[in-house]
Amino acid sequence: MENQLSKIKNIVLIASGKGGVGKSTVATNLAVSLSREGYATGLLDADLYGPSVPLTMGMEGFQPTVNKNGDKESIQPVMNYGVKVMSIGFMMKKEDAVIWRGPMASNVLTQLLENTVWGDLDFLIIDMPPGTGDICITLAQKIPKAKAILVVTPQKIATADGRRAANMFRANGIDIPVLGIVENMSYFVPMQHPEERYTLFGEGGGQELAAELNIPLLAKIPMVEDVCGLCDAGKTVFASASHILVSTFLDLAQTMVEKLHLPAMNDTDVAI
Ligand SMILES: Nc1ncnc2c1ncn2[C@@H]1O[C@H](COP(=O)(O)OP(=O)(O)OP(=O)(O)O)[C@@H](O)[C@H]1O
Ligand SMILES: [Mg+2]
Repeated sequence: MENQLSKIKNIVLIASGKGGVGKSTVATNLAVSLSREGYATGLLDADLYGPSVPLTMGMEGFQPTVNKNGDKESIQPVMNYGVKVMSIGFMMKKEDAVIWRGPMASNVLTQLLENTVWGDLDFLIIDMPPGTGDICITLAQKIPKAKAILVVTPQKIATADGRRAANMFRANGIDIPVLGIVENMSYFVPMQHPEERYTLFGEGGGQELAAELNIPLLAKIPMVEDVCGLCDAGKTVFASASHILVSTFLDLAQTMVEKLHLPAMNDTDVAI
């Protein structure tokens, strides 16, 4: 593990206390944003029971090359939108059910992380499974240099889940710093009327949780109706340069870089 991970400068876990809040969407578009901004970026799908990165990155059917050298196995990540990507989803059929128990799942994840030839990366973004279960804890313990970002939705009731996730990262023996909160689905923006905002799920949950945990609110990401359709079509929001969320995600990447006290890059010539 050390060998591969030692070449990665920053590892950021995208986590949440509950499912369906937009971790995979945020992880995907954040990774593409970082690549766009000139950083060498990888994306690991750690959601073994519901890997969605092959879909969100438009990479269904991609097949990483696996090399065996004696007992040692190495996996070449596959690339799209300028991001090196690894997911258990590449190794199984879409309809396969994963029936590993906790320790087995942790082993598989460790192998994906350890055996993938990431090379020199500025960032490895990890799309975490929901909640605070075995996999989250194993991963957090295996990567002591990781930092976490929590994704929440704005309902006040959802903040209890965010608080639980923050407590897990802050627990003794894990000690992963939480860089900040991303509030997703903060309000609805109609695509034809981008100046309008509708707060469907209440307001202020992300801000309140950030204040309570004494960490910054890094971004408020609106709900835009075509995000789901784009994803189903194998596209990120970057498939269209004028998409409302492109600047939102580029700003999130910049804000995260600032919070990590890293020099900004402005290499706009990076191909995607
Ligand atoms: N800002 C947004 N606007 C519109 N749709 C969104 C937005 N964010 C996420 N979605 C949609 O909401 C659904 C859930 O998002 P996503 O899969 O990213 O959540 P998740 O937290 O990774 O879920 P899980 O816990 O199951 O892994 C997806 O269909 C996604 O396309
Ligand atoms: Mg997900």
